[in-house]
Amino acid sequence: MQSHNALEYDYTVAKLFTISTIALGLVAMLIGVLIAFELAFPDLNHLLGEYGTFGRLRPLHTDAAAFGFTLSGIWASWYYYGQRILKVSMAESPFVMLMGKLHFWLYMAGVVGIVVSLLMGITTSKEYAEFEWPIDIAIVVVWLIFGAGFFGLIGIRREKYLYISVWYMIAFYVAIAMLYLFNNMEVPTYFASGGYGAWYHSVSMYAGTNDAMVQWWYGHNAVAFVFTTPIIAMIYYFLPKESGQAVYSYKLSLLSFWGLMFVYLWAGGHHLLYSTVPDWVQTMASIFSIVLILPSWGSAINMLLTMKGEWGQLQTNPLIKFMVLASTFYMFSTLEGPIQAIKSVNALAHFTDWIPGHVHDGTLGWVGFMIFSAILHMAPRMFKREIWSKSLMETQFWIQTTGIVLYFSSMWIAGITQGMMWRATDQYGNLAYSFIDTVTVLHPYYTIRGVGGLLFLVGAIIWAFNIFMTFKSGKVLEREPQNTSPAS
Ligand code: HEM
Ligand code: HEM
Repeated sequence: MQSHNALEYDYTVAKLFTISTIALGLVAMLIGVLIAFELAFPDLNHLLGEYGTFGRLRPLHTDAAAFGFTLSGIWASWYYYGQRILKVSMAESPFVMLMGKLHFWLYMAGVVGIVVSLLMGITTSKEYAEFEWPIDIAIVVVWLIFGAGFFGLIGIRREKYLYISVWYMIAFYVAIAMLYLFNNMEVPTYFASGGYGAWYHSVSMYAGTNDAMVQWWYGHNAVAFVFTTPIIAMIYYFLPKESGQAVYSYKLSLLSFWGLMFVYLWAGGHHLLYSTVPDWVQTMASIFSIVLILPSWGSAINMLLTMKGEWGQLQTNPLIKFMVLASTFYMFSTLEGPIQAIKSVNALAHFTDWIPGHVHDGTLGWVGFMIFSAILHMAPRMFKREIWSKSLMETQFWIQTTGIVLYFSSMWIAGITQGMMWRATDQYGNLAYSFIDTVTVLHPYYTIRGVGGLLFLVGAIIWAFNIFMTFKSGKVLEREPQNTSPAS
């Protein structure tokens, strides 16, 4: 194995994205906790005037979490490990370096545009695609710049073979470009109507059922290609590196990769079961969702088996704990999702809190834990300092694990109770409960979810503090922590 110390890598861009991961992560989680408590205690909606209402803050939470925290985490780690697996420094190409920096600063400008417009209530009202056309155009520009640097770095690499993580990152790049372009085809009403209405307003190019189908083809694949594919790229790099173990099976990684690519794109219709979408589309989505267990578990099992014979590391290394639990939560949510996609189960689950429960065992347990551990792995190597406190990592792990368990278990109970109450009828066939009855029953579970989220946020603050202290006053390292992994 070639030692990394032989090559000096440039972490300028990785560090910038690390800062945005931390900042946007804390903002997303803080808003998450606030809206969770707003659902439990509706009076909180009036705390900050119109800007603090659930309706204004919810898209800010989802977008800050998905496109702020998660994308920044993906990029922070790519700009770190991309150089290492391709065995080339960004600094070797002024073009790649410039694209990297431009990528960060234009992305930040986009974030400001998004925050301001969403707070003002400007939205297309399509979930995860709320941004109006001027911002959509800016996002395309950012994506092109990211692509120029990304493929530029691949182009000047010394390592001939592309490691597994690079395949997943290429898939992330191509799929998001395709999904984003098609779902955001919109007609600016001001220009189309000869000057009527707000200049930034638009309507979707598609209508009715077609619009819904394109939206959920996009929506679920945002899950596939933001919350899944690039996170798998991360775990394929960081788990072998941190544990010093070789990836268990390259064959399995190949099978899971192509399985995931082929199956995911057909599953989006499971968001539209029992709607006006053609029946065959619904059935196909349901079947493909169940098949999706195979490639999903293929990656997760490959990761868990990478730890074969080395489970003792769970006791000594908190980062291994984070990553093993992340794979476990990934298995968990990719079993739960297919179950929810079975038509008869979806009839009960859809519109209930079981869905946000599913969302957060995936996003907190899988995405969150992977991003936290990736940055904790990178910090000593980027700053050349030892992690400030190992015991804080342990504390973070246990506080957040407790938080996730409280979050999803309360939402399971809430969701299933809600679903059962909505469909309950008396002996004459009349509905047994009014809507407000369900709201009253849900109150304690909403409170428990808020507490779970608060614990998760406290853990994230501990994480941010630990990284900051590592940067500021961690013990200086003469050479970076070594391992014996062939994954480079
Ligand atoms: C095998 C993989 C998966 C399948 C088949 C699946 C299936 C589903 C189903 C059936 C729904 C509910 C649709 C509804 O009735 O409204 C759903 C919602 C959702 N899932 Fe998954 N899921 C999978 C994995 C994941 C993972 C790993 C994550 C995140 C890390 C995730 C995030 C989401 C999100 C964000 C939603 C909510 C979308 C919305 O309504 O806004 N899913 N999923
Ligand atoms: C402190 C932690 C968090 C809390 C308390 C929290 C809370 C919430 C709440 C209350 C909702 C609205 C649910 C509803 O409309 O009924 C929500 C939605 C959502 N959150 Fe979070 N969240 C947290 C962290 C995260 C993170 C880290 C991510 C992603 C990485 C995330 C992704 C999402 C998504 C995708 C949705 C939309 C789900 C759907 O439509 O079903 N959240 N969150």
